[in-house]
Amino acid sequence: MQPSNSVTQQPGVAHRLAGIEISLIRQINALATPLTVNLGIGEPNVEPDETLREFAERAAATGSWHYTANAGTLALRKLIVEESGFDPKTEVCVTAGTEEALFSIFQAFVDPGDEVLVPNPGFLAYATLSRIAGAKPVPYDFDPSDWRLDADALLRRITTKTKLIVVNSPSNPLGSVIGRETLERIANAGPLVVSDEIYREIWYEEPPPSMLGMSDRVIVVGGMSKSHAMTGLRLGWVIAREAVMRPIVTAHQYVATCASAFSQSLAESILSDPAWNRSWLEGVRGQFRAQREAALFAIERELEAAIPPPAGAFYAFVPVPACDTVTFAKTLATDAAVLVIPGVAFGSLGEGFVRISYAASLEEITSGIERIGRWLRAARL
Ligand SMILES: Cc1ncc(COP(=O)(O)O)c(C=O)c1O
Repeated sequence: MQPSNSVTQQPGVAHRLAGIEISLIRQINALATPLTVNLGIGEPNVEPDETLREFAERAAATGSWHYTANAGTLALRKLIVEESGFDPKTEVCVTAGTEEALFSIFQAFVDPGDEVLVPNPGFLAYATLSRIAGAKPVPYDFDPSDWRLDADALLRRITTKTKLIVVNSPSNPLGSVIGRETLERIANAGPLVVSDEIYREIWYEEPPPSMLGMSDRVIVVGGMSKSHAMTGLRLGWVIAREAVMRPIVTAHQYVATCASAFSQSLAESILSDPAWNRSWLEGVRGQFRAQREAALFAIERELEAAIPPPAGAFYAFVPVPACDTVTFAKTLATDAAVLVIPGVAFGSLGEGFVRISYAASLEEITSGIERIGRWLRAARL
């Protein structure tokens, strides 16, 4: 018998985890074999250059192995909020990745019975974190014709129970960016706003606007997982005004104590060398620009889909002629040896779409999308 991912049948498991499962993304990724082309991946296919390795060697050789302050080393906090008008002593907290930042924020503010506005389609952790905190995730919809966000539609969803609004721009899975005016309206709508800006450095035409400082109720989260391909080193941060930050640091203390001292020391070296960092980020963007072009070309030729070019991140959200995209993605994984993520993993509006990650080599992007096209033609879907 297949082991279930659900924890609900297991004795003694806390109610807060009832119905919470390992994410569909992880389930699809578990179907990979050595022959699989993985376009389901959510991390950059970027390797550290010589300088980044030197920074890491220096951090290992000279950095502290001890606990840091809960909120992170002051030296790193200063670099994170440099010239932003935020106080490094009280308004920034370094975390074990953005995911831990989000968990701490939800633990700090969200109570049973609260509502949390989450993007649809959007990163699935937001709805799950709401449920773990006992709250109800309330989806707000993007317009499927161009994945624009209608601010009025979002604001209409605010009720007296709304505790948080979660915004993610550039978006996983859409690759779309929300305009400054819309962000300002959300920032000033009343409830606390969490702006997940983990993809902010990965853009194609112009830098996406940040919500930082748009109002005292905005909490910005970011980190180095995507910009510096440091997903395994768990380095993220939260920036918010002092009164909002205080309970977040308390929650963070009981989740992680502090982020890895090694990763903090490495991040400090990175941010202390702005010339190298600028050129690194330009290199990363250049690589993703080429991969985006390859993906868009193959999607149009093989899948006959013209999608709006992603403005940021490294995902294409592509319509497919299948009414059940979970079965479709699982069949593609076993029959065509290519992994993509079913759109419904990101919310109800994702049904009919798959997320294709172009954080892969040009050969993998081209051959993976060719495999999907060939499978669709053979199945006459
Ligand atoms: C939108 C979004 N937020 C947060 C995360 C988590 O990132 P981290 O590695 O910093 O925990 C991811 C990872 O895929 C993501 O896509």
